Amino acid sequence: MELQKNLSKSTGPVLGIESSCDETAAAVYDPERGLLAHAVYSQIELHAPYGGVVPELASRDHLRRLLPLTEKVLAEAGLSGPELGAVAYTAGPGLIGALLVGATTGMGLAMAWGIPALGIHHMEAHLLAPLLESDPPEFPFVALLVSGGHTLLVDVRSFGVYEVLGQTLDDAAGEAFDKTAKLLDLPYPGGPALARLAEAGDPQRFRLPRPMLKRPGLDFSFSGLKTAVMLQVRELEKQGGPGEVDRADLAASFQAAVVDTLVAKSLRAIEQTGHQRLIIAGGVGANQSLREQLHLALDARGARVYYPRSAFCTDNAAMVALTGALRLAAGATPSLSVEARPRWELGALG
Ligand code: KG4
Ligand code: ZN
Repeated sequence: MELQKNLSKSTGPVLGIESSCDETAAAVYDPERGLLAHAVYSQIELHAPYGGVVPELASRDHLRRLLPLTEKVLAEAGLSGPELGAVAYTAGPGLIGALLVGATTGMGLAMAWGIPALGIHHMEAHLLAPLLESDPPEFPFVALLVSGGHTLLVDVRSFGVYEVLGQTLDDAAGEAFDKTAKLLDLPYPGGPALARLAEAGDPQRFRLPRPMLKRPGLDFSFSGLKTAVMLQVRELEKQGGPGEVDRADLAASFQAAVVDTLVAKSLRAIEQTGHQRLIIAGGVGANQSLREQLHLALDARGARVYYPRSAFCTDNAAMVALTGALRLAAGATPSLSVEARPRWELGALG
């Protein structure tokens, strides 16, 4: 098994810490026994009244939640801190204050326990998340990373060797879902709410653009799509709407436009690289319609789609602990100082 091969120089169980945005999470991954415990505290309710993540509130809440969550996962794993092999924390990209809470806590705990600490790239952790599942993909594969902050197509040649093939030129896919959901008066966070509303809607009713499909290349652009929905809402307002059916049809039409675009570009990436496997990760990877359409499109080409369970699509620490274990087994040098990088190119990882 490829994962076992990559973990052959095991350094013991790894505590993972995630605090890059609005989820506080801790997990313990053991290279020999797999995932021993994981826990997430979502700050959704804290930010909901503001309609988006308030960075300062996020940092303060991470500070409140992180140590109790860490104690909980250690107890579940039946381990004490000094029995761990290392601490892996998300070092970026993300909100600087939020990252600093995870990074300083991770470094502090590691120093107190006399074990190494390692800063992890959040998007690398997302793209390795499918390896947490029972039928993991082998390298190489194409990764479609679709979250609130990122939309990336990545050529994952082997562990640690990543080339970004395309990315969004403006809004991320999740951001487009969230902004469009706001236009439709849906509660924050909008992505899952919009997907639910779309279930009852007609995806053919509104002909929304499929951005960037006519152009060559693998980049995305979603801001025009959100504007197209806004113009439709204004039209419907003139007629006293939008009513319930209109809103569901708009949600379904919007979702179909995003999914069509993501599927078409993913197919292009599969053709361009010649890889037979595609993984989807990041919050939007939890979207059922995206998963179904990718399955249909890739099955037809004899290629296979992999994704982690929904809880490991959205932000979590299991993926951070796994990435830490893999990096340490590959000989990564532990952090000597607190690492927090709000911007950090995935392609720059060695
Ligand atoms: O990966 P994630 O938890 O956090 C970031 O690193 O951004 O992704 C969160 C994003 C949000 O924009 C949320 O609305 C979106 O993922 N999302 C969804 C679904 N579940 C979460 N978008 C569409 N359909 C879903 N089912
Ligand atoms: Zn994320």
